[in-house]
Amino acid sequence: MVGVPTLDRPARERPIAVFDSGVGGLTVLHELLVSLPGEEFLYLGDTARFPYGEKSQEQLRTYAVEIADHLVAAGAKLLVVACGSASAAALPLLEEHLAGTEVDVVGVIVPAAQLAVEATANGRVGVLATPATIASGAFAEAIAGSDRHVRVTSVACPDLAPLIQSGVPLDEDAVAIVRRYTAQLRAADVDTAILGCTHYPLFAPILQRMLGRSVRLVTSGQGIVRSVERALGARGLLSEREGEGEYRFHCTGDVEAFRTLGTRFLQMPLGTIEHVTLAPSAGALAA
Ligand code: DGL
Repeated sequence: MVGVPTLDRPARERPIAVFDSGVGGLTVLHELLVSLPGEEFLYLGDTARFPYGEKSQEQLRTYAVEIADHLVAAGAKLLVVACGSASAAALPLLEEHLAGTEVDVVGVIVPAAQLAVEATANGRVGVLATPATIASGAFAEAIAGSDRHVRVTSVACPDLAPLIQSGVPLDEDAVAIVRRYTAQLRAADVDTAILGCTHYPLFAPILQRMLGRSVRLVTSGQGIVRSVERALGARGLLSEREGEGEYRFHCTGDVEAFRTLGTRFLQMPLGTIEHVTLAPSAGALAA
């Protein structure tokens, strides 16, 4: 519900904030809603500035700090960066920026990288992600940090998130684009593929079909629940609510477009969506 006073409640009953450039992060929110039903959530879709995958690392860092300030002011007890591009560019900066607050931050890169390292048997892992994420090298670094013997094949997929965000049904041209991206992973003989952009699980069936059924697909949502539980547990912030927590949405772009697409992707009713304008953060990059 809009207007729920959040700051005068015990910290553990305040919302977990989740953000993405668009509807992709709903694949992460979906996992969290299913696994942590007692928690309250506030999701922000920065649809006015979609796509993040084409932005520079510096732009993404500025956006991430603006959004973090907005969500902390809205009473968040934890920040989940449900966007590969923003996690890759801005996680260390966000950790630093929020260090003086009681709000911890969790990103999607490391949990997915760790799952992939656990899953691979032949030591060959593929990463499909936005150009910004691939350029950052964040997945390759996180995988090497878990096991430097794992060989990583990274494929930048500039058209995939915009295709999914458009909501247009897959046509032959789109299928050809997806086939081009997956062909590189097939050639590299990966047995595990990270869907390194939170939009991509929405194309999981076609990706699985093209990669072959023996390839294990790893999504950001699969790894994030444990990280969120650990981050909250470490600070005594897991909700003690019985029954279901509320969830609501902030959106910087068109609310009705977000509702239409979001309802399809979340597979649950969306309820309240509030249009918000983000204030530029003074000294965002100085943090
Ligand atoms: N869902 C996002 C990600 O995980 C971003 C897609 C985009 O905005 O380009 O990278």
